[in-house]
This record gives sequence, structure tokens and C-alpha cells, in this order.
Amino acid sequence: MNRLFALWGTTVGKKVAMAATGIILILFLVSHMISNVLIFRNPEHLDSYAAWLRSLGPALWIARGGLLAAVVVHVIAAYQLTLLARRARPVAYARHEYQVATYASRTMRWGGLLLLVFIIFHILHFTTGTFHPDFRPGEVGRNVVIGFQVTPVAVFYVVVMLFLGLHLSHGIWSAFQTFGLNHPSYNRSRRLLAWGLAILVAGGLATIPAAAILGYLK
Ligand code: HEM
Repeated sequence: MNRLFALWGTTVGKKVAMAATGIILILFLVSHMISNVLIFRNPEHLDSYAAWLRSLGPALWIARGGLLAAVVVHVIAAYQLTLLARRARPVAYARHEYQVATYASRTMRWGGLLLLVFIIFHILHFTTGTFHPDFRPGEVGRNVVIGFQVTPVAVFYVVVMLFLGLHLSHGIWSAFQTFGLNHPSYNRSRRLLAWGLAILVAGGLATIPAAAILGYLK
């Protein structure tokens, strides 16, 4: 335990924590995307999936606790790494010229903040129903269909999924780097895998609000 705390105290330790929690969150998102696109087969498929999750009882709460802990550690590590980077360069560059930084890497911080705000809104929208126009507990498929009939909300989801895609593409790429998997001979495959997973997860999720905006989800 002491070793873990000592590791957390270093920049490398915080990067490892970010990468490890990031992987947990990506695994959740892959399963979240697969379960949610079931809505295109039949909204009731989502109800049976949610009912099965709830039937897990304490195991579901352990998984939720693990997910929450992963988000908290990921955010704290990101915040502390930002502070360390600022402290290392207290005076900003007079001229900022990006050499190899991609748009995805430059939007990691405020894109991450947007995702955090989104998660809070999203739970109040589809889990508690606080921000839902006509929420019915247990009728998950119907709640998604009705929730996305509010076009500005569906547009917000699509925009957030775009940033999620950018965040994932750079995050997956960086996680490889953190774990030392960085070599010119397979950097191309690393980039392809990062983009492929990001497009699959964010693109898959975005199809649901996008279908509602286009009138295909009723
Ligand atoms: C269009 C995209 C999305 C759709 C349609 C969607 C759908 C849903 C639905 C229907 C629920 C409630 C499930 C239930 O009550 O059993 C839910 C819960 C949740 N979603 Fe999403 N989701 C989307 C994107 C995301 C994203 C991008 C994240 C994370 C960054 C996320 C994280 C969560 C979390 C943490 C919960 C709570 C899980 C729980 O209570 O156990 N979702 N989502």
C-alpha cells in the first residue's frame, strides 16, 4: 500500500493511474455502447438488459463503486498533472506554435471537463430522471426514445460524443505510451487501433441521438 502511495506521488505514477483508470472506463464504454445500440432492434431489449443488471444486486453496486472510483482517480490525476505542468512552466510561451500536437491532444483538458459535466447531466437524465420530460423507472428504452425527442438535448449528446471520440483517440494512444508500448515499427498500428476504438465507441453511441434528430427513433 505504501508503495502504491509512493508511486502516486510521482508524475509517472499519476500517468499510470490515468492510463489504468482510462482502460477501465473504455471497457465500460464498449459494453455501454453495445448494450445501448440494442435499441435499434427494439427499445424493450434495453429494458431486459437493465433488469438483468439490477438483478445482480450487490455486484451491480460494487461495479458502480469501481466505476465511480475510476472516474475520481482519473480526474484527480489529470488535475494534478496539469498543475505540475503549469508549475514547470510558470511563464507561458510568448508564441504558441504547435508542432506535432493533434487537435485531439490539445482538447484533452477542457474536453475532459466537458465529459465530466456530461456524466453528471447524463445520470440525472437517464438514471434518476431528474432532467427527463417523462421518466418511467425500469422503462429504459422508452426513456431513451422520449428523452431524445428534445432536439437540443439530442444535439448536445452528439456534440459530446464527438469530443468523447477525440478524448478516447488521444487517451488510448497515450496509454500505450505510458505502458512503454512506443516503437516506430508499430506506432502506425497504435494510431489505427486508438482511432478505430474511439470511432467504434463514440460513433456507435452517437448513432442513437443522431437517429432521434433525423426522426428514425420514435
Ligand atoms: C448517446 C450516448 C449514450 C446513451 C444513449 C446512454 C444511455 C444510458 C442509459 C439509458 C442509462 C441508464 C441505464 C439504466 O438505468 O439501467 C445510462 C447510464 C449511464 N451512462 Fe450512459 N449513455 C450514453 C453515453 C454515455 C457516456 C459517453 C458515458 C460516460 C462517459 C455514459 C455513462 C453512463 C453512466 C456512468 C451511467 C450510470 C450507470 C448506472 O447507473 O449503473 N453514458 N446511459
